[in-house]
Amino acid sequence: MKTGFALARLTVVGATFLAGVATLAETVGLQELDLSLMRQGWGQPQLNRSMREKPLTIAGRTFEHGVGTHAHSSLWVDLAGKGRHLSAFVGFDDSSNGPGSVQFRIIGDGKKLFESGVMKLRDAAVPVEVDLQGIKTLLLEVLDGGDGTSFDHADWAEARFDMAAGARPSAIPRPVPKEEFTILTPRPGPEPRVNGPLRYGCRPGHPFLYKIPTQGTRPMEFSATGLPASLTVDPTTGIVSGIAPARGEYQVEFRAKNGHGTSTRRFSIVSGDTLALTPPMGYNHWYAHYDRITDAMMRHAADVLVSSGMADVGYQYVNIDDCWMNAPKHGDPKRVGPLRDGSGNLIPNQHFPDMKGLTDFIHAKGLKAGTYTSPGPLTCGGFTGAWQHEAQDAKQFADWGFDFLKYDWCSYGDIAAKDKDPELVKFKKPYTLMGDLLKQSSRDVVFNLCQYGMGNVWEWGEAVGGHSWRTAGDLGFELDRFFEIAIRNAGYRAWSKPGAWNDPDYVQIGWIGSANGMGRPKPCDMTPGEQYAFMSLWCLSAAPIFYSGDMATLDEFTLGILCNPEVIDIDQDPLGQGGRVVQLSDTTFLMVKDLQDGGKAVGLCNRGQFPARVSVAWKELGISGQASVRDLWRRSSVGTFEGSYAADVGRHSVTLVKVGGSGR
Ligand code: GLA
Repeated sequence: MKTGFALARLTVVGATFLAGVATLAETVGLQELDLSLMRQGWGQPQLNRSMREKPLTIAGRTFEHGVGTHAHSSLWVDLAGKGRHLSAFVGFDDSSNGPGSVQFRIIGDGKKLFESGVMKLRDAAVPVEVDLQGIKTLLLEVLDGGDGTSFDHADWAEARFDMAAGARPSAIPRPVPKEEFTILTPRPGPEPRVNGPLRYGCRPGHPFLYKIPTQGTRPMEFSATGLPASLTVDPTTGIVSGIAPARGEYQVEFRAKNGHGTSTRRFSIVSGDTLALTPPMGYNHWYAHYDRITDAMMRHAADVLVSSGMADVGYQYVNIDDCWMNAPKHGDPKRVGPLRDGSGNLIPNQHFPDMKGLTDFIHAKGLKAGTYTSPGPLTCGGFTGAWQHEAQDAKQFADWGFDFLKYDWCSYGDIAAKDKDPELVKFKKPYTLMGDLLKQSSRDVVFNLCQYGMGNVWEWGEAVGGHSWRTAGDLGFELDRFFEIAIRNAGYRAWSKPGAWNDPDYVQIGWIGSANGMGRPKPCDMTPGEQYAFMSLWCLSAAPIFYSGDMATLDEFTLGILCNPEVIDIDQDPLGQGGRVVQLSDTTFLMVKDLQDGGKAVGLCNRGQFPARVSVAWKELGISGQASVRDLWRRSSVGTFEGSYAADVGRHSVTLVKVGGSGR
């Protein structure tokens, strides 16, 4: 005797009535809940219609009521233990007309109550009948079916909750269990520890600059054996400088000594054609300061990179992102002005009065400087791009002293639209042009392609001169999907190798800025577990590690995550392997990275909403017998295990271990 659903209404539950005790009950349609709390990957939830604002239609069957949403979608519902039953029809909406796939899942108090399987366009609607007795909190989810979220228009049709009399379900914000901000990384001791990559690429005859990343109390005395004659090390600062030697591989040993001890580290200088033999590491201003960036902020970032200890574990680049040039129009008058001078030279805006002075400041610390532009007439932020000035700008960047260039597609889309060449040719064209110019540059310039993965950039990014390439759009817009982004990025691992890196975007932990131009940076939305997970996954992926949070509010917790030398060693491993995803389930998976010393870095990953036990079998790692397990975050040995290892991993978290291997 169920009634309509447009409004909650009182009804009599038949079975109870027949038993002689009439019990009143509420029936509430999903569309009546506060859907502003539904999170989804694209657009807004639609009431009683599809994402394309058409009637909800699954494989030709039309439904009057329900919610149209888009993967990944989640809605938390408080039932207070007063729910009885949930019924619905779910499916892929006909109006999407795309190649996507979705998966519906219902979780009650941590237990899976319903799972639709992967559903595609024109799959018949799947009926949902779920017993809600005793359930306090329900989670309605739409996942991407394993192929990304494009075209994933999903319908919860005729979804209705039968509740006990007088009770109503209510949508609630994502309940984030309170987690302690536990610092796992032990504080560095007073004794020296030389860190940093074991292999380093440079081009013969170019300026060479490398600060030996070393933890421990200063003053410290630095020395090096095996250094080519064209290079010297400053014994006080540990900055190696000079001119890159003739082609060849030079085996160097760095040594750092203070009153507490001595540390050494192998360092192989490979002078040839390839730069970035390990993933570049540093700072990028974008997610902290967007279009508010100034010369003073960049100098401050360089200062903090050193004073915070980040440079002591290998962060080297201090990179300006967009908005340092003039724009035809902008809210800040100091960023508006002539785009180029009479000779076509770029004019930085008034917040950047002395570019050479800025790079000199950064270089004096032994660090490197990076900049940004677009192959189009304007950058993504609407500032001057390099279009038709590519050679002049490349020379200008080298003259100013830059060591890194991010080249961001953006308005080049308008140029490409008029180009009649095949799509792939159009994608490659601007990057080939700049890549060739940078190869001829008088400096070593690391080249970062930013075009969001178009045309499978990982397949050709290296051939056009790139050292890294963004594999997707801006992570800042979908930060709560970082697990999925990391899994997708791992799909391109075959192309990850020394000098050629998949770039899933910047590290956004700690304090992060706001894109809309208002206010100071704020603590990010990620839980502590998520922040550990983020850094673990990026290091397992051999991703470039650019911190893009606020350098003025770096706290001990954030620094603990950014500055664990054993975790960074995983990222910087000279083999350059990207981690592979093993045992992928809807909540847990492993990410496994082969290391040069024969060891395996393993992330035991839980992207589910509840703690889970995750295990790795040695056969999944290609090893057998006994193997040592080291907890990389705590930097301590866990023990020796036979055949497998398992850990309880918190909600949205990763336990990062190293299995086997000979060590440092
Ligand atoms: C794009 C890029 C970002 C950032 C901005 C700057 O969105 O993907 O990383 O560089 O442009 O405008």
